[in-house]
Amino acid sequence: MRTILVTGGCGFIGSHTCLVLLEKGYRIIIVDSLINSSEEIINAIKSNVKVPSFTEDNLIFRRGDIRDKLFLENVFKEERRRNMPINLVIHFAALKAVNESVQNPIEYWNNNVLGTINLIEVMSKNDCFKFVFSSSATIYKPMLNKQICEDSEIGPINPYGNTKLAIEKFLSDLFRSNSNKWKIVSLRYFNPVGAHNSGNLGENPKGIPNNLFPILLKVALKKQDYLRVFGNDWPTKDGTCVRDYIHVMDLAEAHVSALNYLNETKPNIIGINIGTGTGQSILEIIETFKKVNNCDLPFKFIDRRPGDAPYVVANNSLALKTIKWIPSRNLEDMCRDSWNYAKKQNTIMHKI
Ligand code: NAD
Ligand code: WQD
Repeated sequence: MRTILVTGGCGFIGSHTCLVLLEKGYRIIIVDSLINSSEEIINAIKSNVKVPSFTEDNLIFRRGDIRDKLFLENVFKEERRRNMPINLVIHFAALKAVNESVQNPIEYWNNNVLGTINLIEVMSKNDCFKFVFSSSATIYKPMLNKQICEDSEIGPINPYGNTKLAIEKFLSDLFRSNSNKWKIVSLRYFNPVGAHNSGNLGENPKGIPNNLFPILLKVALKKQDYLRVFGNDWPTKDGTCVRDYIHVMDLAEAHVSALNYLNETKPNIIGINIGTGTGQSILEIIETFKKVNNCDLPFKFIDRRPGDAPYVVANNSLALKTIKWIPSRNLEDMCRDSWNYAKKQNTIMHKI
């Protein structure tokens, strides 16, 4: 059985990906410090695996920080001792709140960049050279009404985005240092939303949410009076910002496609956009959410949010060509599944 180390596996995207990997028969070691998640997720993942071959030993949780090298070395050593060495790492662990990164760049560079260097060092020592990295569309310079390709202009505008770009550069240097060894895929996610259709896994960040969907769900749950829509005077179809929202289960499946690709390809490094290729405005999201879920979603327009871009949409053709991945869920699925999760958990943050 193939053993995979998943850092940040208790988080939003990591938990869905672990579930999909377990259903594909992989054995998973999750390393997570729980800085933005909770250990309860482990049971939620286990109880949703729907394959008879699954046993408790297929999912192991090790609480710890990827910046703790001794801890990481022990994780690799333990699996070698069991004769099930880790031969691939999917690296989700990171801090991801843009405004927090502006206020505390030291913490963001320390956690995201140093954490990744540490992880790569321990992998290398343990002869593990396959790596899937959670990168982000935030590394690109936004372009008005034009899809973003992998060779589009790079230009992050906040410390969080800078850490993602720095890691991609580090990975390129690493690959060039020995191009017969490393197999690296950086998946550049656009806007992940939605939840597993059981309603047991979803996005429930600690602290005050910044992203659209967790806030929108709070409003729908009547824990916040209305959604503040940042600007209605953007040069877009209806004046509100357009994004490429991607269902988290499609995103999880993209990781399986990336693994298959890494298992078959020769040493290589590649950055791949993971989005639907379709842009949705905030007003379209609000309308779809209300229609699909038959609920109210009050909103008010307020000023533009500093740093926002009007249009961020992926050209996703490289994903189809290389890792043979294509998303299958639409905006209605994203709205329905995230609402199902929010209602079931009813824990989406406190009233602000
Ligand atoms: P998340 O915060 O839900 O998950 C990240 C997990 O990593 C959490 O469980 C957290 O506790 C853990 N973690 C953080 N630092 C750690 C450390 N030093 N050691 C061990 N564990 C640590 O975030 P997510 O939305 O699931 O994002 C996963 C990855 O995808 C991140 O790298 C993020 O930057 C990237 N990404 C996310 C989005 C998005 O909008 N959600 C978009 C593009 C890229
Ligand atoms: C989406 C749209 C807002 C909240 C961020 C990061 C990016 C990536 C994904 C990790 C925007 C609007 C939001 C609200 C609103 N993360 N909005 N009212 O800004 O596209 O991207 O998350 O890599 O790096 O920058 O996502 O969810 O914050 O916003 O009107 O209360 O919703 O203006 O147009 P964004 P978001």
